[in-house]
Amino acid sequence: MSSIEIEDRLGITFCNRQSIAIERGEGCLVWDEDGKKYLDFTSGWGVTCLGHSHPLITDAITKQAKKIIQNPNSGFTYSPPRAKLLEILNKVLPDNLEKIYFANSGAEANDAAIKLARKITGKSKVVSTLASFHGRTFNTLSVSGGRDNAEQFLPALEGNCFVPFGNIAALAAALDEKTAAVILEPIQGEGGVRIPSDEYFSAVALLCKERGILLIIDEIQTGFCRTGKFFAIEHSKVSIAPDIMTMGKGIAGGFPFAAFAVSASVDKQLKKGDHGGTFCGNPLACAVATAVVNYLLSEKIADRVARSGELMIDGLCNLRKKYPQLIGPIRGKGLLCAFELDSDYLVTKVTEAALRRGLLITPTRNRIIRLIPALIVTDAEIAKGLELLDCALASVVQRH
Ligand SMILES: Cc1ncc(COP(=O)(O)O)c(C=O)c1O
Repeated sequence: MSSIEIEDRLGITFCNRQSIAIERGEGCLVWDEDGKKYLDFTSGWGVTCLGHSHPLITDAITKQAKKIIQNPNSGFTYSPPRAKLLEILNKVLPDNLEKIYFANSGAEANDAAIKLARKITGKSKVVSTLASFHGRTFNTLSVSGGRDNAEQFLPALEGNCFVPFGNIAALAAALDEKTAAVILEPIQGEGGVRIPSDEYFSAVALLCKERGILLIIDEIQTGFCRTGKFFAIEHSKVSIAPDIMTMGKGIAGGFPFAAFAVSASVDKQLKKGDHGGTFCGNPLACAVATAVVNYLLSEKIADRVARSGELMIDGLCNLRKKYPQLIGPIRGKGLLCAFELDSDYLVTKVTEAALRRGLLITPTRNRIIRLIPALIVTDAEIAKGLELLDCALASVVQRH
């Protein structure tokens, strides 16, 4: 029986779109079980930021695994790899974020952020945005405005509210005496790469400060150089001081890991044991994350991403000129890029046509295709990917 047949029989919706079984990867390329090669413009939902199986990551895993994988008891023992990672993260985080904790997934980090915000404020309402995505745990589903997932599991946690992303007046109107926190992505990723105005975040930060409401910034998709800055809130002209910031995806280049950082004043109101988890901050994940963050900094990957992103957007604009009947708005910051099509049906058709030609792309809700390759993608690979996308679009135009 093939891997695909076994997964379809025994797995729970691991795979619902692209019926290929990936066997290995190297850089921006992956190969399926039959040896067919694909150019990967998904980087595993924006995770494998240094490409697949980067030697730096495989070496870090091997070296640390030979020393120790899980501390005897994480709650009672200190850990050199954890200390190293804390030090290097402290250098890249916004200045006001002084304390860091680790998690195993983005949703877990956001879940903890919401839980701690509720404890600190003694309030429970969280204001979020329409079309946002913050995870699939119950807490995070309840603050995710892309309601198509949450609606299956209603009633969600009560009292939260959703306002249009980028609309400061709507946000101001939603804040009240019951509000514990506002949670925002700097750029909505799953919502279709929606980029707010330059002033949005400084206005939100000011509002939250004036009203004593915690600001949680979710950098899970946008952090670690994805948008051409180490963190996407650095694009704001005025520096932003979130109370809590969550991180994940690229943080360990594909090794499952996440983190959240809090300000000194938030930390003061927490006590040991308020949060924890068996695997949180395990030495193996910390060693890998340290190697990744060091590389991002030493190789100035943020600058490289900003340049590559411009190439990608230029290429997409050229494709729009060629297929004006198909391609709508194009958006992007760094290597978080997207274009809109006329219908979800066309999104499926273009994604399938690209797959047949050896290009993996990420369909997203609301008629959108995202292009989120590894941050080390070369100019030649960007050109090749756009060429394959061009062929895919041409075939869809011909058939429809
Ligand atoms: C902005 C944002 N927050 C949270 C999450 C959830 O992260 P995870 O899938 O690691 O739980 C995602 C995942 O796509 C995300 O894009």
